[in-house]
Amino acid sequence: MRIKIFVFAMSCFTLTAFGQGNNPVEERIDELVSQMTLQEKIGQMNQLTGMGLSKNMKESVKTGKVGTILNELNVNVVNELQRIAVEESRLHIPLIVARDVIHGFKTIFPIPLGQAASWNPEVAEEGARVAAVEASATGIRWTFAPMIDISRDPRWGRIAESCGEDPYLTSVMGVAMVKGFQGADLSAPASIAACAKHFAAYGASESGKDYNTTWIPEVLLRDVYLPPFEAVAKAGAATFMCSFNDINGIPSSGNPYLNQQILRNEWHYDGVLVSDWGSIQQMIPHGFCADLKEAAMKAANASVDIDMMGYAYTKHLEELVKSGEVSEKTVDEAVRNILRLKFRLGLFDNPYTKVEGKLPYYTDKALDKAKWAAAESAVLLKNDGVLPLKKDIKTIAVVGPLADAPADQLGTWCFDAEPERAVTPLAALRDLYGKRVKIIAELGLQYSRDKSEEGIAKAVKAAEQADVVLAFVGEEAILSGEARCRADIDLPGKQTELLAALKRTGKPVVMIVMAGRPLAITREAEMADGILYAFHGGTMAGPALADLIFGKSVPSGKLPVTIPRMVGQVPIYYAHKNTGRPASNITLMDDIEIGAKQTSIGFTSYHLDAGDRPLFPFGYGLSYTAFQYGDVRLSSGKLKQGDTLTVTCDITNTGNYDASEVVQLYIRDRVASLIRPVRELKGFKKVFVKAGETHTVSFQLTSDDLAFWQNAKMKKAEAGEFQVWVSTDSQTGTPTRFLYEE
Ligand code: BGC
Repeated sequence: MRIKIFVFAMSCFTLTAFGQGNNPVEERIDELVSQMTLQEKIGQMNQLTGMGLSKNMKESVKTGKVGTILNELNVNVVNELQRIAVEESRLHIPLIVARDVIHGFKTIFPIPLGQAASWNPEVAEEGARVAAVEASATGIRWTFAPMIDISRDPRWGRIAESCGEDPYLTSVMGVAMVKGFQGADLSAPASIAACAKHFAAYGASESGKDYNTTWIPEVLLRDVYLPPFEAVAKAGAATFMCSFNDINGIPSSGNPYLNQQILRNEWHYDGVLVSDWGSIQQMIPHGFCADLKEAAMKAANASVDIDMMGYAYTKHLEELVKSGEVSEKTVDEAVRNILRLKFRLGLFDNPYTKVEGKLPYYTDKALDKAKWAAAESAVLLKNDGVLPLKKDIKTIAVVGPLADAPADQLGTWCFDAEPERAVTPLAALRDLYGKRVKIIAELGLQYSRDKSEEGIAKAVKAAEQADVVLAFVGEEAILSGEARCRADIDLPGKQTELLAALKRTGKPVVMIVMAGRPLAITREAEMADGILYAFHGGTMAGPALADLIFGKSVPSGKLPVTIPRMVGQVPIYYAHKNTGRPASNITLMDDIEIGAKQTSIGFTSYHLDAGDRPLFPFGYGLSYTAFQYGDVRLSSGKLKQGDTLTVTCDITNTGNYDASEVVQLYIRDRVASLIRPVRELKGFKKVFVKAGETHTVSFQLTSDDLAFWQNAKMKKAEAGEFQVWVSTDSQTGTPTRFLYEE
């Protein structure tokens, strides 16, 4: 396609600074806004889904009735629509094309929950960078990621898209993803605007059911759900998206406190806030608005700049401005934010996408990175000495419905990837280790929900002929993600029966779990001799797992979320508060004597059938080597406001493998005006330590790390005693104490 670049008067202005004030871009924005009709302004606030080069779409672009488009994937269509926008529309304002590019476009990285399990921000940044390079080649310049909702409920299907349960880990990974998507320069052709979503507290949906209501005290909102959003806002995330849920009765798309007071006034955010798909219109079934007109009014007055597929603004904003229910100033502010984004993306200068040459999909470099990311994301949860496979292993049995399920290993939100490009564990084992060992593949079940036990006998036969069984179990991709919530988080179908039958052969069983959420695998964990929790690992999950199993690489992932023993424990997370009666002398119900008196087993806080511990805690993950933690050293026994406390610990690799360890820093405020969690993550470092060597790790703590929200207006650290741990997970280690003085 021959592209005629329209030389718009504005193109001489390149974006040099993001702030407002004496800034040529802000002046150009003001000038443009002053020339726009109300209808053109409303057009900018309207986002439509791609309709190719339909008459309707072309007309909407030409007349300025649409400002951004989502889900248009044909680069020639994108360029032609862009041409219409910059050459034929009255004010020549370019379009932006958006798409959900969540953990890859073509080359798929592990699901975000898996990436978070790497505890390695480079994994997140590289994954987002590869996604940006691939997606931008198709004309996509805006992704709806990262999703940084704190998720403490594995029933919620969207936990797959999140970075798990912790605000600090999520902040670090979220910022890394923003950096990866946006690159060093957002106006570069291979950079795409990030979108922090879903603002806010969507992960707190009651009963883990999608779109559900939340009731969240202000201090909890600010301590737990908002920090990742504030972190990415400060890191330059170009856009934010409203969440579908209500908080305390107010849906986010109509919540001025959240969107104006917190986002704009407190954080000084000048990016775009887009609604979620139809979320403005959905304030009607919520029971918050009587009709679409009221919904448009409430959303506009709550600073929602763009209506994604809700038609609320196009249908009603003009009359609302005329009647004074929405001020034109409010509309202008929204339009300014949208135009600013278009400038930041460099679209006024370079509206078109280059189409010459080979598309940068599935490059060797991208595939290598995806393999590395999948290896970093796998968490070794149990190892009775079976892993890595010993040199004398001659025959392996490969079983389980996820062993050769290319589409499922990609996970949720992979609209554009070709499953045939995914390398499954079975294919990788054959390819990489097929000469070294004999591989007998009998999957036993066809898919994760398969209830037919017919194939189990064959899988057992394969196991009987093998030295070790590799059982790839878990969930199909369709069982997690948006609106894919489960009330039961056990392994679906007959997978438990399959594992039990394999166990009965007496052969060692390695269970590899490929899933979109933490599954309650308590019974199965007992049956397995080794467990690798791999999440949905993406295109290169197979080779990454094969190398981990054979010891070519060493597991280094740690859980970004607690794995419960059973669903009834949910919500269960490490940063819980203590009760007045913490669990002690636990007697489980099977151990209670028949006819026991009511007072015979004590009165503390736990479940009779589950105890008070999860199956595996947050931060947990083993290695093929062993790490020994030395005593924690503090630079002082006291931390004064304005000072820094250095926390140091020596980590020695006492095993036989060179390997990485995620060293974690936790604190606890012992006594406070509002009780504080039993532990809070305040830092982590993933360090590579050679066998036999010692690495010294240091962290800095300041009063900011100790501070918490006392109420909606005040956040501060309170004087008193603090405990600090440097540990391998959220449950072990010995605390050291220090005093904080205001
Ligand atoms: C999801 C968003 C997504 C949007 C656009 C919605 O249903 O909640 O996360 O970005 O659709 O596809």
